[in-house]
Amino acid sequence: MAASWRQRWLLVVLTGLRGWQLGVTEARASTDILLPYAEGHGPSHSHRHVRDCQAVTFGMRTFESWPSSSHDTLPVARSSVFISDMPGGAESSRWVYGHMTVVPDPLRQLSVLEPGGPGGCEKNPRVSVEETAAPAGCLYAQNAGFYNITSDGCLGNVVSDGRMVRDSGGVQNAQFGIRRDGTLVFGYLSQEEVLDRSNPFEQLVSGVVWLLRNAEVYINQSLEAECDETVDMELFRDFVDVSSARTAVGHDVNGNVVMFHVDGQTHKRG
Ligand SMILES: *[C@@H]1O[C@H](CO)[C@@H](O)[C@H](O)[C@H]1NC(C)=O
Ligand SMILES: *[C@@H]1O[C@H](CO)[C@@H](O)[C@H](O)[C@H]1NC(C)=O
Repeated sequence: MAASWRQRWLLVVLTGLRGWQLGVTEARASTDILLPYAEGHGPSHSHRHVRDCQAVTFGMRTFESWPSSSHDTLPVARSSVFISDMPGGAESSRWVYGHMTVVPDPLRQLSVLEPGGPGGCEKNPRVSVEETAAPAGCLYAQNAGFYNITSDGCLGNVVSDGRMVRDSGGVQNAQFGIRRDGTLVFGYLSQEEVLDRSNPFEQLVSGVVWLLRNAEVYINQSLEAECDETVDMELFRDFVDVSSARTAVGHDVNGNVVMFHVDGQTHKRG
């Protein structure tokens, strides 16, 4: 169906991890485990620090690039529901469920959208994913990025359909982006990379913690890169480990973007 083929069918909105969760009052009473930084957002150190603290095998490369798929074949979307048995927790929290969506041709089909539409990062109150996704004609959508729970403004870098919405000023959190030539980018970017004009980002969003690098668990290295001196490492690990509603983004070997989300409730399931 040509009409739906042209439709954008996936977006990432910026209401963040917190947008999914319900009823976290107990957790919030003390320290909010879903706010990884006590002050501000992201570490205060430079890109150079991140480069210097990573394994020598990566050399100067603090991020990974991969060509995106660009085939015109159907299906345009593959989204599946999964239910996983996670033994170890309470019986009621054993079953973890969510969605996994595979996005071919992400350059043409995937957008990072501001909450509630253009300008939403600055002016909008929190809006649901659905309120953003429906008017944009998306077939699938999920949360991404963090926002300031006081001002409701977006945090991190945001590039939406080629428009630079927000520039974090070089803050070193894990990034996901798509460049104009379709290159998928994951990892830590210098400010020069974020603002590059020769092959600029069409889409860019910031998260916290790079989970897998070249199919290997990269959490410890990522904690090193993103943990600020003023942040308690234990609390940062709790943020990584806590059962909750979570979202992640990655790619497969063919250059399809993989959107992953787990339903949950903080400390109860996820
Ligand atoms: C969030 O917004 C408040 C109020 O505008 C501001 O004081 C605070 O610095 C912001 N926090 C971050 C992490 O940007
Ligand atoms: C990551 O660090 C923790 C704590 O230091 C350690 O127990 C764990 O084995 C490390 N994981 C990997 C994959 O190196």
